[in-house]
Parts: sequence; structure tokens; C-alpha cells
Amino acid sequence: MNTYLLFKSIHLIAVISWMAGLLYLPRIFVYHSEAIQNNKPEDLMSTFKVMERRLFIYIMNPAMIASWIFGGLLIYTIGIDNFGSLWFQLKLLFVVILTIYHFFLFQCLRKFAENNNSFPPKFYRIINEIPTILLIATIFIIVFKPL
Ligand code: HEM
Repeated sequence: MNTYLLFKSIHLIAVISWMAGLLYLPRIFVYHSEAIQNNKPEDLMSTFKVMERRLFIYIMNPAMIASWIFGGLLIYTIGIDNFGSLWFQLKLLFVVILTIYHFFLFQCLRKFAENNNSFPPKFYRIINEIPTILLIATIFIIVFKPL
């Protein structure tokens, strides 16, 4: 069994699951903050809170951890020499920003859970573009591998 290809397959499954959550959670925040603005009933708010918490705990957290673990195993397999390559440094920069964004979304989730959301729907619509841009940049960097 080729362990490099095994790690890469699991890495890609984890990354796809993580990205799905990073793209979908701010979308739920848009609907949730609109519902607050429009004084919608409390049971609708509870449904949003459950959706947000389950998405974060059961999909996004495990997927992020698996992305890092199998990304780390890939680094170990292809060799540490790659730390000097531009593609590798850019990739690491982008995934660190994605990870910070992940924890920022968690802060927003906690604020919603405490009925203390600080941002309007437009804010969540705008930040929803961050993972899209980072996803496109990361894929081009890792496939074209500039030296
Ligand atoms: C979480 C931290 C991450 C680390 C440490 C990491 C590290 C790596 C490493 C070392 C490789 C192998 C590169 C090679 O063999 O040439 C790889 C492959 C890959 N990674 Fe990541 N990665 C991470 C997150 C991500 C994310 C967030 C994405 C997508 C948005 C992504 C997309 C890919 C793709 C598409 C490949 C396959 C590239 C190819 O076979 O040409 N990775 N990753």
C-alpha cells in the first residue's frame, strides 16, 4: 500500500468536509441574524442554534483536525525540505488564515448561543467570501507549485 497516496486521499476527504462547513456556517449566520432583526419566534432561533452547534462540533472540528493531521503526515512523507519552497510557505500561510477564520466563526457561534450576536447579516455575507478566495488560491498554489 502506498502510504503517501493513502494520506493524500484522507487529507482531501477531510479538507473537502472542512471547507463545506467553513462555507455553510456563515450562511446559517446570515439567516439567523436576519431572523433576530425581524423578531422571528424563539423556536426558530433554537433551530438555528442547534444547526450551528452540530455543524461545528460534528463536522467542522473533526474535519479541521484531520486536515492538519494528514497534512502533517504528508509533510513528513514528502520530506521537510519543502519548507523552503514558495508553494509550501504560501499554502501554510493560507491554511493558518483558514484556521484563524474557523476559530473566529466559533466565537460568533458562542455569541449567537448567548443571544448576543454583534454583527448584521451583511457582515456574514461579506466574510463568507474569505474561505472561497482562500480555497481558490490554495488549490492553484498546491497544483501549480511555484518554486
Ligand atoms: C490544514 C493544514 C494543511 C496542511 C499541513 C497541508 C499539507 C499538504 C501537503 C504536505 C500536501 C502534499 C503535497 C505534495 O505531495 O505535493 C497536501 C496536498 C494537498 N492539499 Fe493540503 N494541507 C492542508 C490543508 C489543505 C487545505 C485547506 C486544502 C484545500 C483548500 C488543501 C488542499 C490540498 C490538495 C488539493 C492537495 C493535493 C495536491 C496534489 O496532489 O497535487 N490542503 N497538503
